Amino acid sequence: MNKVETSFLHKNQFGDDFLWGVSTAAFQIEGAPDSDGKGRSIWDVFTSQKGKIKSGHHALTACDFYNSYQSDIELIRDLNIPNFRFSISWPRIMPTGVLPVNEAGIVYYNKIIDSLLSAGIEPWITLYHWDLPHELEIKGGWTNRESVNWFSAYVEVCVQNFGDRVKNWMVINEPSVFTGAGYFLGIHAPGKKGITNYLKAMHHVTLATTAGAKIIRNHIPDAHIGTTFSCTHIEPATQSSKDVEAAKRVDTLLNRTFIEPILGLGYPQADLPVLKKLNAYIVEDDLNNLSFDFDFIGLQCYTREVVKSSLLIPYIGAELISAEKRNVISTDMGWEVYPPALYEVLKKFNAYKGIKKIIITENGAAFPDTLKNGKVYDIKRTHYIQDHLEQILKAKKDGLNVDGYFVWTLTDNFEWAEGYNARFGLIHVDFDTQQRTIKHSGLWFKDFLS
Ligand code: NOJ
Repeated sequence: MNKVETSFLHKNQFGDDFLWGVSTAAFQIEGAPDSDGKGRSIWDVFTSQKGKIKSGHHALTACDFYNSYQSDIELIRDLNIPNFRFSISWPRIMPTGVLPVNEAGIVYYNKIIDSLLSAGIEPWITLYHWDLPHELEIKGGWTNRESVNWFSAYVEVCVQNFGDRVKNWMVINEPSVFTGAGYFLGIHAPGKKGITNYLKAMHHVTLATTAGAKIIRNHIPDAHIGTTFSCTHIEPATQSSKDVEAAKRVDTLLNRTFIEPILGLGYPQADLPVLKKLNAYIVEDDLNNLSFDFDFIGLQCYTREVVKSSLLIPYIGAELISAEKRNVISTDMGWEVYPPALYEVLKKFNAYKGIKKIIITENGAAFPDTLKNGKVYDIKRTHYIQDHLEQILKAKKDGLNVDGYFVWTLTDNFEWAEGYNARFGLIHVDFDTQQRTIKHSGLWFKDFLS
């Protein structure tokens, strides 16, 4: 393979202990929704409903990782990537969400873990990356307080079966996104709407996060336990007090609401009054049970948001001004390309005393790739990654804490409501043939990590 040298970045600048990896999620890559006893998830149901996913796409095959995990793991090894983050599909190992366990599901994830370890790749498990068992959704899903117990029983099964070999665990992925999109806006599974559903889900997911973490700690004394949050740098559109206040509310919602209770700071109700409605669902000892001493916090940052005050938007009184309206460079997700956001986010989260370690557990970009003569020259993605790595270096030089960087994602995959239209992979996938082609960004990353 030719050397792909386009920047002055060098791995050594980040230090020997810096963690390099790539992140994925079960529903986005596995396919095989009914194989070997798997139950349906809320995403299996949502994607089967008309009009929910762009271009009518579904994830029945996705990247066929269920069958091709072995060759994809070889690709991870070929790219010199030492850490692989993947999620467990809850309904694959507990088809109805509760006991009994589907042994075939356990066998499958054991095969992945063992293949990774024999390829010299460290497994990083996300326990919940949005694919709730549908049977539990029938009972209210995350809006039902019982969800904390359902989740705890599932975590027990995972740690008992995988904890002997897996040391790196992330409990819940991006709670603000799946509760906001899935329980407030209804644009992600399970398609519920409204403030009541949202706030209930928010509180139960937060309780489940710490409950899950405690179970991991009890079973695996040397576990490295984290949980991952989506975060974004927020700026007011103008310096008017209205816009500044609006930006503060959006910042509270997107960056603080889910992490602060976990750090023992409670919900930030003073800065976002609608959160006071949560008090209706907080019982007994809840506030004491909301915090946990995580070994690391995973931050997932892709862009910044520019905010203006808007009386038309309920609860938050603020509106995001899209990248398109601002006429700035953006990705296929419509997200502005703004690498300094990563530095700003690192600065912001470093200010929390309760955070011991920060790992960037996702960062990456969707661009319209073309496969020509067996090659994908995705120079925009290469630059996106390099520019974000520069921001990490800047943060490190300024003494900020950041201990790892995981690219989103390994292969192009099923991007939720966007279907296959948004390609984020280091590796191109032809979804008709499942042919993999390492993109320029993948070759650059490989070279960088060598
Ligand atoms: C966040 C999510 O964790 C992941 O599932 C998603 O594909 C990426 N960001 C890109 O949107």
